[in-house]
Amino acid sequence: MKILVTGGAGFIGSHTAIELISKGHTPVIADNFSNSEKWILGRLEEISQQEIIFYEGDCSDGNFLAEVFSREKNIAGAIHFAAKKAVGESMEKPLIYYKNNLLSLIVLLETMQEFGVKNLVFSSSATVYGEPGSCPIPETAPRQKAASPYGNTKVICEDIISDSVFGGKNISAISLRYFNPIGAHPSGLIGELPIGIPNNLVPYVTQAAAGIREKLTVFGNDYPTPDGSGVRDFIHVVDLAQAHIKTLEYLEKQNTPFYDVFNVGTGQGNSVLEIIQTFEKVNGVEVPYEIGPRRPGDIATCFADPQKIEKTLGWKTEKTLEESLIDAWKWQNYLT
Ligand code: WQD
Repeated sequence: MKILVTGGAGFIGSHTAIELISKGHTPVIADNFSNSEKWILGRLEEISQQEIIFYEGDCSDGNFLAEVFSREKNIAGAIHFAAKKAVGESMEKPLIYYKNNLLSLIVLLETMQEFGVKNLVFSSSATVYGEPGSCPIPETAPRQKAASPYGNTKVICEDIISDSVFGGKNISAISLRYFNPIGAHPSGLIGELPIGIPNNLVPYVTQAAAGIREKLTVFGNDYPTPDGSGVRDFIHVVDLAQAHIKTLEYLEKQNTPFYDVFNVGTGQGNSVLEIIQTFEKVNGVEVPYEIGPRRPGDIATCFADPQKIEKTLGWKTEKTLEESLIDAWKWQNYLT
């Protein structure tokens, strides 16, 4: 199938484009490079050994998307990654986040309807659960007003999609609620490219280990967790990418209208301090760090119950935490 991948030059989008190709599909990447680099496209061609179909533009521009759908006949579906995703930045610039993340989805849905493309996989997030009542988290756990405008855009986007599906718009969709994507492609050619100071843990760990950052600050060690530091479900980005292909192929077989959500995680929680210790052990490098105060908006524990996606799609994570941290370090060394 020919699949539109919006934000396909980004961290998860680029890895998903590679997995689409490896399963015999054809990605059509649309990206405005607001949070990615154009040279990633060359890396995708190097890994896949084939030309990548690519369009530069903003997914909130209806004319741009119409042009893509017009030129690329028989697009069978779309995977929508294009969105701003920095929690902290969203607190400072909420209107930019609501405008960008909601408008790009709405314009994509309108364009899909116009061109009769019905299958959509949406990049959602476990952040929609807010502070979960308990872990592991099933899809039946209640969504809560997220702690940030970024997270709230994911809640609202899920509703925009489900309302479109059940509003007779000839759309079928699945929202994938990611937990914490980490790692990089084993080739070391693509990976996470944080702009400026990393918001997320693992790129900060790799930069601290590489000496780019003086030291990592562990945001709190007084949480009600085994070692006091935050616990998350860290999933290898290649496993996450493969979940998208399984989801799309499953969606293609469903009768329209169809909507569902899947948690995409390992089902295992690891703490921040465990990440540091494991990273040091598997890579033989030291991570300079200090314990600091909790980060506002952080929760103590968050990890998935992945039974639904495992049973429905026959997908489960295959890579280990150790592999994720080895691949993350390999990518960091490629960058520096
Ligand atoms: C993980 C743990 C921090 C940095 C967010 C979004 C989610 C997804 C991933 C976007 C926490 C601790 C972190 C640091 C630290 N979306 N930490 N020092 O907050 O779980 O999830 O990012 O990509 O939707 O909500 O991820 O990596 O920021 O934090 O101690 O310098 O690492 O306190 O316990 P988070 P994270």
